[in-house]
Amino acid sequence: MKILILYFSATGNTAGIAHELRTRFTELGVTADEVDITPPAVRRDGVAIEPYDAVVFGFPVHSWRAPAVVRDWLRTLDGRQKRCSTFFTYGGFGIHPAHESTRKILTGQGFVVVSSAEFLAPHTFNLGGWKAMEGRPDTSDLEVAREYAARTLQRFAGTDQAVLGSLEATRYSDDELDAIERFRFRVVTELPSRTGRECSMCRACEEICPAEAMDAARGEADPDRCIVCLGCVAACPEQALSVNDLSASWDMKLKMEKITVAEMESKKSRIYL
Ligand SMILES: Cc1cc2nc3c(=O)[nH]c(=O)nc-3n(C[C@H](O)[C@H](O)[C@H](O)COP(=O)(O)O)c2cc1C
Repeated sequence: MKILILYFSATGNTAGIAHELRTRFTELGVTADEVDITPPAVRRDGVAIEPYDAVVFGFPVHSWRAPAVVRDWLRTLDGRQKRCSTFFTYGGFGIHPAHESTRKILTGQGFVVVSSAEFLAPHTFNLGGWKAMEGRPDTSDLEVAREYAARTLQRFAGTDQAVLGSLEATRYSDDELDAIERFRFRVVTELPSRTGRECSMCRACEEICPAEAMDAARGEADPDRCIVCLGCVAACPEQALSVNDLSASWDMKLKMEKITVAEMESKKSRIYL
């Protein structure tokens, strides 16, 4: 059996779980290849799915769903009834429409979704002062990754014939979720900007940008394209880019979500079968 692990990862969390899963699949005796679809050129050129028996898709949660650029790309794929699975990394807040909305897209493209999983990871906005899920994934999360690989492989191989069961429904329509996504991007974070530290013009920020929004020469992102994934901020070797100070909004976020740090930290990664 040959499995393709396709992942998008702006700041490395999803890539980390993808690597872990590849190790687990290999231990289980199957070939698992990884393709990073974060660079726009990879998505534009297309990825050969035909040589693989099954596909694992891994994405970060952006405003409750897979990132918009990912959702658009998934709608270009031809699933040909291939079995697939999804997993998400997230910063400990809302996630529930992610599994169902991604399944809906993949099923519409002809894939058969057999399982899904969610893994806790540091929230991207920690780069601006939030403190969500620092130190995750930990050994308990990686144990979930091990079990997820084993259970998913049984479904890929057909020793377990079942497909992904029913998931919690969302009361929001796609249009409402789009509106929430647009609203949140601008309310919490401003666009990445120069810190004043010297920039050596290495263009790492431009290269990492999954939305082709960053202009290294100006040190600014195109507001119409930027998805505020903060890949550019994380990638800058000189810390010449930053996001606005988000430390005040961290307390506000906890209040809004009616959750304490201790409750956040007790959350666990999870498998859906
Ligand atoms: C624009 C944006 C929106 C996000 N929305 C959510 C969210 O709705 N719920 C959540 O728990 N985490 C959210 N996060 C945090 C990421 O899901 C999390 O940090 C993820 O592991 C990042 O993955 P990556 O490092 O592979 O890019 C968001 C991050 C960004 C950049």
